[in-house]
Amino acid sequence: MKAVLTKGIGGTPTVTEIEMPTPGPTELLVKSLYMAFNPVDAFMIYTGMLVEQWPITLGVDGAGVVTELGDKAAELGFKKGDIVCGCARLGVPNHGTAQEYHLRDALVSIKKPSNVSVAEAATLGGGFQTAAIALVEGVHIPLPEKKESKVGEWVLVFGGAGAVGRATVQFLLLAGYDVVTTCSARSKEDLEALGTTTVDYKQPEDAQVEQILKITSGKLSKIIDASGNDNPVVAKKLFSGLSGEKLFATTNDWSNITDFEGGKTYEIRLGPIGAPRGEKLNKDMAKYNKVIEKLFEDGLLSTSQYDVAGEGWDEVVKAYNYHKEGKGGNKRVLVHLQDE
Ligand SMILES: NC(=O)c1ccc[n+]([C@@H]2O[C@H](COP(=O)([O-])OP(=O)(O)OC[C@H]3O[C@@H](n4cnc5c(N)ncnc54)[C@H](OP(=O)(O)O)[C@@H]3O)[C@@H](O)[C@H]2O)c1
Repeated sequence: MKAVLTKGIGGTPTVTEIEMPTPGPTELLVKSLYMAFNPVDAFMIYTGMLVEQWPITLGVDGAGVVTELGDKAAELGFKKGDIVCGCARLGVPNHGTAQEYHLRDALVSIKKPSNVSVAEAATLGGGFQTAAIALVEGVHIPLPEKKESKVGEWVLVFGGAGAVGRATVQFLLLAGYDVVTTCSARSKEDLEALGTTTVDYKQPEDAQVEQILKITSGKLSKIIDASGNDNPVVAKKLFSGLSGEKLFATTNDWSNITDFEGGKTYEIRLGPIGAPRGEKLNKDMAKYNKVIEKLFEDGLLSTSQYDVAGEGWDEVVKAYNYHKEGKGGNKRVLVHLQDE
């Protein structure tokens, strides 16, 4: 069967013939329907970080149909014919979604909500799963299970337009928080339609700080950086002028961002998802996934827009380059691989 494999650091993804994998007791074998790129695809190939064993298959996100499954996966409520999605286990062979049949860990898989298309399902894994960690572990806000009443506090999200950011702002709004988020002009309308107040990150940092303080009247103690910034200068400036508890959570877990200005920093780590070393994360994720499925079924969450950049195996590498060059804009880049 076909897989789009990268054999080592800096390698070029190539369509290759490989053997069909067999699911272990806790795994699903999934026929890949749509694969979706995630910034972590290129990150792993360029840095080798998060890679446990080469070759790896492209496609951190995606959606497909379960064709075989292990005994323990069946005990978790999965069955043949289910459409599943979610972030793949990272950096091991056979778990990327750009192969005809890929493996997926049942505990951390999401069942496609009935009101979401297969293409939409392919976009939602890494974003919503990371956002759940950002809320619960990062800024100590329980994941909302319904629309909650107003809390009367602001949360700032850097990068509300990304897959993680857009999921984060939706969770926060459901949890009853007022949300101010940074974005550029192209994403302002979408984020304001969700109910956020936006600030343009292309302005000078001091102008952003001034605007955020004015919007929040200084009632701000929680900041989530979903953009993965190496040096959160705006957050540092904001925290330097605020007193009380200050929590900062960041998707940047590679630059060693430490505590600053009297606040506590939390590095979000989805990296071990599905792996044995991610035992606690995997148990937490199983709970978060149920909440994500329910909130979608209740019509309370929406997926990011997407761009189907290609059809079939030969288009995957072209679509990877298109994604890396930022040609998808603020949309998730997908490839339609096969029909059900
Ligand atoms: N640590 C972890 O476990 C973990 C997990 C998931 C993701 N990540 C990291 O988190 C980051 C976001 O991931 P993602 O999947 O959400 O990315 P994404 O969907 O590719 O994000 C794209 C969006 O980022 C926005 N953006 C770019 N630079 C920005 C800046 N300086 N300030 C604010 N927004 C900015 C752009 O918004 P506009 O359209 O508004 O310009 C763009 O639409 C990546 O660096 C990724 O590697 C880490």
